[in-house]
Amino acid sequence: MSPEPLLRVADLQIEVPGETGPVAAVRGVGFTLQRGESLGLVGESGSGKSLTCRAVLGVLPYGCHAAGGTITFDGHDLTRLPVLEWQRLRSVRIGAIFQDPASYLNPSLTIGRQLSEVLRVKGGLGRREAKARAHELLALVGLRRPELVYRQIPSELSGGMQQRAMLALAVSCDPDLLVADEPTTALDVKTQAEVLALLAELRERLGLAVLFVSHDLDVVAELCDRIAVFHRGEIVEAGTTDEIIRRPRHPYTRSLIEAAALAEATEEVLDGVHS
Ligand SMILES: Nc1ncnc2c1ncn2[C@@H]1O[C@H](COP(=O)(O)OP(=O)(O)OP(=O)(O)O)[C@@H](O)[C@H]1O
Ligand SMILES: [Mg+2]
Repeated sequence: MSPEPLLRVADLQIEVPGETGPVAAVRGVGFTLQRGESLGLVGESGSGKSLTCRAVLGVLPYGCHAAGGTITFDGHDLTRLPVLEWQRLRSVRIGAIFQDPASYLNPSLTIGRQLSEVLRVKGGLGRREAKARAHELLALVGLRRPELVYRQIPSELSGGMQQRAMLALAVSCDPDLLVADEPTTALDVKTQAEVLALLAELRERLGLAVLFVSHDLDVVAELCDRIAVFHRGEIVEAGTTDEIIRRPRHPYTRSLIEAAALAEATEEVLDGVHS
């Protein structure tokens, strides 16, 4: 018998406000994630990937709510936990990074202060320990001058550095799960590749399970063991990365693969033109 998964989402239904009343935006989504495993959620814009992630994090946008289903994390049914307990569990055991790190970092506090506060409040460290650990974390996420970044505020960092700082915050309490919703979409191609490599390395080093969202199938295939394809609020196909890429069954998945191949071919032609 396979072990109880770290995360099990079953028959998740999410309603969002529509013009004439609630609209079902996520309809019966289900998947599991084992410890240390990475699952990629792909699919067109508006297909329900972010809402699903936000439901797992317990932070659905205002007016949206889970109308049914269960989200079980390490044996706890999150949808039945009191909000404060869910938040407490989530804040140390589930980390999150998003497309726009700047809007999740406090613009007026130094990175060091933000990290140290989390380490002291949630991690229970003393002032000195927190500072030392913050430096370690900044080095862990590949920031070359941790002492300098520690003293900087977010606007003094590039987009790639902000995402690394966000990642340091996300893994600061040694979580079991990292939810990463389009963390590289806003970055240039080179920085995107660096952040992806970092994610893969951290996953390995920290034994993190990762729920990773992107509409770039190539990016997902690089990082994830399994893929679930979203289409209009439902998962239309799921399997190992190899199965999905080699033998896509759903027409929508085939069109995603064709689009990715076309993008690659175009890039090669452009590379040829510029070289
Ligand atoms: N706050 C909200 N209020 C109303 N509708 C919303 C809200 N958030 C999401 N929706 C709707 O729910 C559906 C799913 O949205 P979601 O953000 O999960 O899509 P997504 O797959 O993450 O898309 P993208 O790839 O563009 O990020 C969309 O139709 C969207 O318009
Ligand atoms: Mg989204």
